[in-house]
Amino acid sequence: MRIEQNFSLEKYNTFHLPVKTRWFLEYADEADLQKVLHDEYFQECLSQHIGQGSNLLFVNDYNGIILHSAIRGMEVVRETDESVWLRIGAGETWDDVVAYAVSQGWGGIENLSGIPGETGAAAVQNIGAYGAEIKDVIDTVEAWNQLTFEKHCFSAEECGYAYRWSRFKDPHADPHIVTYLVLKLAKNPVFNLEYGALKEVKEPTLAKVREAVLAIRGEKLPDPNVLGNAGSFFMNPLVSEEHFERIRQAYPEVPGFPTGDKVKVPAGWLIEQCGLKGKRHGHVGVYEKQALILVNYGEATGDEIALMAESIRAAVKDRFGIELMPEVKYIA
Ligand code: EPU
Repeated sequence: MRIEQNFSLEKYNTFHLPVKTRWFLEYADEADLQKVLHDEYFQECLSQHIGQGSNLLFVNDYNGIILHSAIRGMEVVRETDESVWLRIGAGETWDDVVAYAVSQGWGGIENLSGIPGETGAAAVQNIGAYGAEIKDVIDTVEAWNQLTFEKHCFSAEECGYAYRWSRFKDPHADPHIVTYLVLKLAKNPVFNLEYGALKEVKEPTLAKVREAVLAIRGEKLPDPNVLGNAGSFFMNPLVSEEHFERIRQAYPEVPGFPTGDKVKVPAGWLIEQCGLKGKRHGHVGVYEKQALILVNYGEATGDEIALMAESIRAAVKDRFGIELMPEVKYIA
């Protein structure tokens, strides 16, 4: 177990905010985690579990315990002619998992190449990109209940997955800490090339699809190691068909994707229409190639980023009557 006091989280958030946490606690395995969960000081303290902080906004220093998993490893736990079940430690870097699966010829997560963050967090927030979501390959999520200290293996169904959502984000459900997941991957990959630029991949192989996804991401999304950011700052909102129709009267080119009885409208488009793409205020900016991403030009504070997000929300609300919800989790 690693315990640090007054610890800088600069390397643990992709906005690279130089915030500090009162305590930083990294557990090596499930036995370590159990000790933490049973600890009375831990139970009384404010605490927050993080992965690589690629979807977090620290609004200020954290006066509590930041927990981090060092549980790693990938192991095939079951195999048939068609599928493999790969069990992965929650602290494993997600893109290393994708690279490994692709190198082994196992399909299902190649469209999720290049997403920053760790595997546990990927399962908590149901990461998605280019027509795929992690929920589609999740077999089981192993997690510890923070109230009963018991471990439960959740089936994908029990995880309650939806767009960027799972029971592990639900404030009304018992809090859990994910330690492992089991993914069911295909030995005979079925490619998912519906998304725009992926249609151009000819005679697809897993490696080609991964390469194409990495190339698209490289073009549209800023590398957090170069320019601090947390990917999409907002979720894509769902609006009623009538609401969408009203927007279309004024903006015939509005993109929209029918989702149940609602229409999903790209938040990036809404923000761009408000004239905010590429706008910069102080050390914070709306990324010039993808308006859904806020970037730290170097010395931004969490507050400044939150303020910029608020002004974007107000502009979109004002023009379109749509309330954008942050995808990024605020930590105060
Ligand atoms: N668009 C604009 N202007 C912009 C950005 C987007 O007009 O500045 C419009 C375009 O019409 C474009 C459409 O929005 O065709 C969709 O854009 P894009 O394909 O870039 O995807 P997105 O909806 O903006 C979502 C995810 C991304 C994921 C991409 C690709 C959310 C909140 N974001 O973005 O996920 O990579 O699809 O599948 O669902 C993330 O979660 O951090 C993330 C990057």
